Amino acid sequence: MTEERWKAVDDYFESVAGEPDPALDAAAGANVGFDLPDIAVSPAQGRFLNLLARVRGARNILEIGTFGGYSTIWLARALPADGTLVTIEYEKSFAEAAAANIARAGVADRVRQEVGRALDILPGLTADPAAPFDLVFVDANKPDIPEYFEWALKLTRPGSVIVVDNVVQGGAVADPDHPDRGVRGVRRFLEGLAHDTRVDATSLQTVGVKGHDGFTLALVTG
Ligand code: DHB
Ligand code: MG
Repeated sequence: MTEERWKAVDDYFESVAGEPDPALDAAAGANVGFDLPDIAVSPAQGRFLNLLARVRGARNILEIGTFGGYSTIWLARALPADGTLVTIEYEKSFAEAAAANIARAGVADRVRQEVGRALDILPGLTADPAAPFDLVFVDANKPDIPEYFEWALKLTRPGSVIVVDNVVQGGAVADPDHPDRGVRGVRRFLEGLAHDTRVDATSLQTVGVKGHDGFTLALVTG
């Protein structure tokens, strides 16, 4: 299977997934204005996050890493009208682009954006009316994933779901000597998870329009 084939299958799935959504398409293109790689989740992954939040019956969601707001919109659309999604972004310009995309998608009433260093903002969320969260999506800078996961645990309760994006990194995660700090962050996270009695978790590889990557799904058990 070539990457081209993976993409063709994702494109096919998208072609049978219903009407195009201009608000989501605009958010998906947020990378263009910043000359960045196309790092939002794929349409199929966005839909998966939306379904997962609804399966969980999530009323409060935390997202670490807003980028252009694409996954934010998918997740916010899973919430009831009185639900809250708190999303944290370090880059002010990304947060501003996301704000426009979130407003265009009609979910601004359910989304609260926090701008700054996630590790500075997360401690303040312990006293937030939106906490504990039913679902946390960890999708920010990869070297800090283990610390973000610890905060996700502090800000959830048994039954909550935590999803961590980008745990495969084109397969690099299997390399014990990989020099990339992001890959090392992912490995430190996964190796900690192995003996973590507070969660049950699995990691799945994905292929598609975003290449070869994957996510970890954790259920908070205690
Ligand atoms: C990349 C992909 C992501 O989903 C992300 O959150 C960050 C970076 C990437 O492909 O570089
Ligand atoms: Mg990601």
